[in-house]
Amino acid sequence: MRRSWAEPYRIKMVESLRITSRAEREQAISEAGFNTFLLRSEDVTIDLLTDSGTGAMSDRQWAAMMMGDEAYAGSRSFYRFEQAVRDHYGYRHVIPTHQGRAAEHILSRLCIRPGQVVPGNMYFTTTRLHQELAGGRFVDVIVDEAHDPDSEFPFKGNVDLAKLQRVIDEHGPSNIAYLSLETNVNMAGGQPCSMENIRAATELCHRHGIAVYLDATRAAENCFFIKRLESGHQDTALADILLEICSCTDGCTMSAKKDCFANIGGFLALNDDSLAEEAGNLCVVYEGLHTYGGMTGRDMEAIAVGIAESVDEETIRARVGQVQYLGRKLIEAGVPIVKPIGGHGVFIDAATFLPHIPRGQYPAQALAAALYVDSGVRAMERGAVSAGRDHVTGQEVFPPLELVRLTIPHRVYTQAHLDVTAESVIVLYEERENIVGLRMTHEPRHLRFFQARFEPANCGAVLRRPAGRAGRPVPEWELSRGAWI
Ligand code: F0G
Repeated sequence: MRRSWAEPYRIKMVESLRITSRAEREQAISEAGFNTFLLRSEDVTIDLLTDSGTGAMSDRQWAAMMMGDEAYAGSRSFYRFEQAVRDHYGYRHVIPTHQGRAAEHILSRLCIRPGQVVPGNMYFTTTRLHQELAGGRFVDVIVDEAHDPDSEFPFKGNVDLAKLQRVIDEHGPSNIAYLSLETNVNMAGGQPCSMENIRAATELCHRHGIAVYLDATRAAENCFFIKRLESGHQDTALADILLEICSCTDGCTMSAKKDCFANIGGFLALNDDSLAEEAGNLCVVYEGLHTYGGMTGRDMEAIAVGIAESVDEETIRARVGQVQYLGRKLIEAGVPIVKPIGGHGVFIDAATFLPHIPRGQYPAQALAAALYVDSGVRAMERGAVSAGRDHVTGQEVFPPLELVRLTIPHRVYTQAHLDVTAESVIVLYEERENIVGLRMTHEPRHLRFFQARFEPANCGAVLRRPAGRAGRPVPEWELSRGAWI
């Protein structure tokens, strides 16, 4: 018998969730232009939009926040933060930023000359945009398995070394800005890179004098997969694996809103002295003084403690364990999801889930909206709407992966919330023909997925009521509203 697992923490403070009716949700999603980013959070019951800044901080983090030094210059909290980054990531220089994309902005401005190519293991929305705004062109060099939701390859985040070599041969090392290397690749489904691949890819670049900058946003989760899946690492502490990854690279950008459990914050870390000097200078232009970079002293204290917690074995086992629990439930019910189950969320393969909706009617966007209507669970589209348009031709890009991400915030929800979520996805899968495609009615220029608006393509609702039946079962807590259980 396999005995039960439980979250290795208990709840010290609670935040009530609003339970809504289906009619309220139908109205809310319509007012939000069928874009889950435009919903008001108070209309959401289980919020799986993102794990970014939405985690629960520990009692230790809250205690540290009381020690925040809010001095404009030379804050004690900065030095604590800087030391934590140095100790765990191993880089020499730390430039604080208000979040990850700010670090990407500074790095891209400093290291990309117009016309240069930036190879990377799959794009991330903000990362690629900053590379393009600096005049660069992103080229995908991730392994082919990453584009196949059914491939069970354990390291789908890996760089394809042959693709990388071809990019170097084609453009010449001087036309390559750097390798943009992401750990636990978000857009591929939270898929890890192996240590062997990180070493090989960085060695290949360094042989040609090309720098490698890590997107360390979910590096701690990647360490967990390396420890579990890659031979030779079973007895290595996660903290040492993290240092080993970082030691292969020349610096990193970081959103402290994920691995580090903070609500806001980030950093750029670099080894090169003169580059760090310039980055610190840009920091004061765009972020704030180089000893706070847009964060409060409290934020920096919370991150310093969070960084240490991010490599704690039990903490990360529980984090990835929750994601695996939800993913396994969906696999058992036959729901098509990206396999293997990743580190920060379960990614539903919306193109396979909804074969009757053409890609031009955004099946993932429609599924995310329908999920909200069914149960008040908020997910995020990660498909064609997120991919946007080719920045040169202006053509819409339909990436191989058309996904809905059920992202698990750190330490926020219990297994019961995951059960309710799984049931809703399974009910929708059983009645998938009732989900209707969408037409885009408003398209912002940059990062359109955040603010785009849609309407159902053929009828007034994104989720038709099932024909010939009284209706699907609604979540239990909706039934028992105002009643004794
Ligand atoms: N890199 C990766 C891999 C990310 O997932 C994110 C943010 C960033 C960079 C940018 O960091 O938000 O602090 O500016 N991802 C969030 C998400 C938005 O929901 O996946 P940021």
